[in-house]
Amino acid sequence: MKKLEPKNYNFSNVKYFSPIQLSEHYQLYINYINCLNQVSADLKNDRIFNKCSSNYSDIRSAEKSKTFCFDSIKLHELYFENLTGNNNRPYGPFERIVIENFGSYNDFRDKFKCIGLSMRGWVLFCYDRYNKEYYIYGQDSHDCGVMLYADPLIVADVYEHAYMIDFGTNRSLYLDAFFQNLDFKVVNQRLKKNLE
Ligand SMILES: [Fe+2]
Repeated sequence: MKKLEPKNYNFSNVKYFSPIQLSEHYQLYINYINCLNQVSADLKNDRIFNKCSSNYSDIRSAEKSKTFCFDSIKLHELYFENLTGNNNRPYGPFERIVIENFGSYNDFRDKFKCIGLSMRGWVLFCYDRYNKEYYIYGQDSHDCGVMLYADPLIVADVYEHAYMIDFGTNRSLYLDAFFQNLDFKVVNQRLKKNLE
């Protein structure tokens, strides 16, 4: 696996989030990148394959960390990318698809929020290439509940670290703030890639 470098994000137009909340969250993302780079380096050493055990082994630890950190990195990049504070009114193909599938944007947002309040890690709106359907789904952790073939269109982090500094335990208020900063241009660009 190639060495990864953290990507940069511009949070200057993000409303209702403090710089410390965003910078601490970004630091966690860097930690995951450092972790994955360490795991990748360790996997290049053949000695790690000397003991193969599902109860306790170095390779088991490395493989568990690999999926945990790599999924976390991808999810955080999708989250930071759609949290810009710009273009925060639904429009275009996204709006049409949401009306077709959920009746209205408000109904979609209420369901997304409800799933976000019910999960421990992530909530996503996706296009599933397997059955060519759009749906919202939740994950309890970075690597638990990942849906194969589901291309993420909207990604919200609902781990407490994403909002505790600014919103305490009020995840509902955090998700309201998330939607007020959600960039629908980014969402439509992701959608366009799926429709091509
Ligand atoms: Fe996070």
